[in-house]
Amino acid sequence: MSNTTPQPEDGFYALVTGANSGLGFAICCRLIDEFLHTRPQSQTLVLIVTTRDIRKGDDAVARLQKHLQNACRKAEKSFPGVSMLLHRRVQFRQEILDLTSILSVQRLAKRLLFSTPKLNAAILNAGIGGWEGLNWPNAFYNLFTDWVNAVTYPTYKISGVGWLTKPQIPADGNAGRTEEPPVGEVFCANVFGHYLLCHYLAPLLSAHKADEGTVGRVIWLSSLEAYASAFSLEDFQGLASSMPYEASKRLTDILALTADLLSTTPLVTQYLTNDGPQRAAKNNPSTNTTKTSARRPKIYLTHPGICSTGIMPLHYFLALLMTAAFYIARWLGSQWHGVTASNGACAPAWVALAQQSTLDAMEEREGKAKWGSATDWWGKERVERTEVEGWGWGGVVGERIRKKGRWRHAKNLTERDRQQFEELGKECWEEMEQLRREWEGRLAAVGVGEEMN
Ligand SMILES: NC(=O)c1ccc[n+]([C@@H]2O[C@H](COP(=O)([O-])OP(=O)(O)OC[C@H]3O[C@@H](n4cnc5c(N)ncnc54)[C@H](OP(=O)(O)O)[C@@H]3O)[C@@H](O)[C@H]2O)c1
Repeated sequence: MSNTTPQPEDGFYALVTGANSGLGFAICCRLIDEFLHTRPQSQTLVLIVTTRDIRKGDDAVARLQKHLQNACRKAEKSFPGVSMLLHRRVQFRQEILDLTSILSVQRLAKRLLFSTPKLNAAILNAGIGGWEGLNWPNAFYNLFTDWVNAVTYPTYKISGVGWLTKPQIPADGNAGRTEEPPVGEVFCANVFGHYLLCHYLAPLLSAHKADEGTVGRVIWLSSLEAYASAFSLEDFQGLASSMPYEASKRLTDILALTADLLSTTPLVTQYLTNDGPQRAAKNNPSTNTTKTSARRPKIYLTHPGICSTGIMPLHYFLALLMTAAFYIARWLGSQWHGVTASNGACAPAWVALAQQSTLDAMEEREGKAKWGSATDWWGKERVERTEVEGWGWGGVVGERIRKKGRWRHAKNLTERDRQQFEELGKECWEEMEQLRREWEGRLAAVGVGEEMN
């Protein structure tokens, strides 16, 4: 998609995938509000929203413009004359991205590499549940015997099994009908597509001036339902799994939480490095690598708690009942039921905009976290560390146990669990890098893939 607006060099560039609905749209709104209130007047937010088609992109940008106008109008009441100033501080760009198509991912990355000076944050929000329905008797039984648990860690969702993406190699680029291995749809939409995207965008995520005091951030959206039991190395893409969504979120947790460990450093460095900056600089006058020093981007993990969105396809009336059930859970004491998408967007937006020194200090003190959107009884939101099986709240054995919002089956972290988690992390990074290289090679061999490395 062409971009005619000038690219502010000191802008804050944030990419949000799946921005047209649910949490993606709410994250964009929160970024606008929080950016305008917390960043200096001289800074501009460039919000790059991705959707699956132009119509959805146009609609999302129109609604975001409206949100910005309302924010400016509100500010005008307190500070007359400020409205125009604020309005100029946010720019929108829209891009098309289908995460289940590697070619679509490559096309978007290429467009951005040649049109964008840098990327401060890539918020990897888009995703699918892959559910086909609910086991209603089970759902009602669970709800009426154990309400909060039933709507926090549901056991009654029925997943599609073995869903595959469309062939990655288009028919016209595959005259000799090269056999291609299957790609799991949920795996590709939730993990692999985003994984590839951030590899290709690494030059932009690394293009920060040394004196900016920040690094590019890759922000994953996971879930409370990232159960260890759902994921297996033997079925890496969850093709045979009856819980492919949960498996994809567990893989997300593993990759993100082990990204800073010594044992994964060679793999993660290889993943977050490519020669894109030179090519981008040659072709994009706004990217001047002589003024920037490549600083490795950081990978963060967040989750939105539980929100009422369209991710579970339900009839309107059932969706209303689901929302009511979530509110009741919150009033019964659940900290994870933010219910509204705006509350759910709290953690990802905070991680995107927080000062680098704040994030570094928090991770230094208590380890690398899965940052979750939590709320109190009234819906007042906050960000909370979240326990992960095999990692705890920060990957530190003997850390403080937080009882609130804890999964009933959670076990205190032991040295052995922590070690196994790290080993699993290394194996997952190896597998992802291998898959990436295989697919790049396969597409290049039939002449359809972009040359991205
Ligand atoms: N809602 C919750 O309670 C909850 C809890 C935990 C985690 N999450 C996570 O939060 C994220 C957003 O979920 P949501 O609840 O906001 O769901 P949603 O309303 O269904 O939004 C999902 C977004 O992802 C996009 N998307 C789906 N498949 C895609 C693909 N192949 N390529 C590109 N974009 C694609 C959708 O686009 P279309 O409109 O074109 O389909 C939509 O914009 C997901 O990663 C989800 O796992 C949500």
